[in-house]
Amino acid sequence: MLKHQILLAPILWVAASMLTPQVLAAPKETGFSESGDAAKGRRIFNRCKACHNLTATNRTRLGPNLDSLFGRQAGSAHNYKFSKALAEATFNWTENSLNEWLTKPNTFLPGNKMQFAGIRQKQDRNDLIAYLRQATVSSTKKK
Ligand code: HEC
Repeated sequence: MLKHQILLAPILWVAASMLTPQVLAAPKETGFSESGDAAKGRRIFNRCKACHNLTATNRTRLGPNLDSLFGRQAGSAHNYKFSKALAEATFNWTENSLNEWLTKPNTFLPGNKMQFAGIRQKQDRNDLIAYLRQATVSSTKKK
């Protein structure tokens, strides 16, 4: 019995030390984490495509164009008539506000007119946001 414990202890210790960093690095349940995969996010954007362009064109679809999204004030995209809720919003689009918006648009900002239930999987949101980070940089700002 004792012999068993002596053998087992180092194995458990190694197993525990392998697990701990992952547990510590786990993102908070609702918060945005940097762990997104842009290639996967590009496919998730298929759910948004029907209504959103990513580039700065004068033509919009059902929703506003999303070029230069990060850092810009919500409801301020040119050439688009927003709902009152978004037009009067005073926050900026960041990874965190976007993460909340995409979780459940109607809960985050009641009265908006985006007909979209939300993205339930946190990892899907992270991937999509990683993709948007790259894809919404307007052509004039690209280095
Ligand atoms: C059925 C069409 C539709 C779909 C699908 C859709 N949206 Fe929208 N989206 C809209 C509309 C319409 C608005 C404007 C809402 C308003 O004015 O209240 C909007 C607004 C937004 C805004 C605010 C933009 C700004 O300039 O303030 C963001 C960001 C956004 N959508 C991202 C997304 C993303 C990302 C997806 C995919 C996960 C998505 N939307 C899916 C129609 C859609």
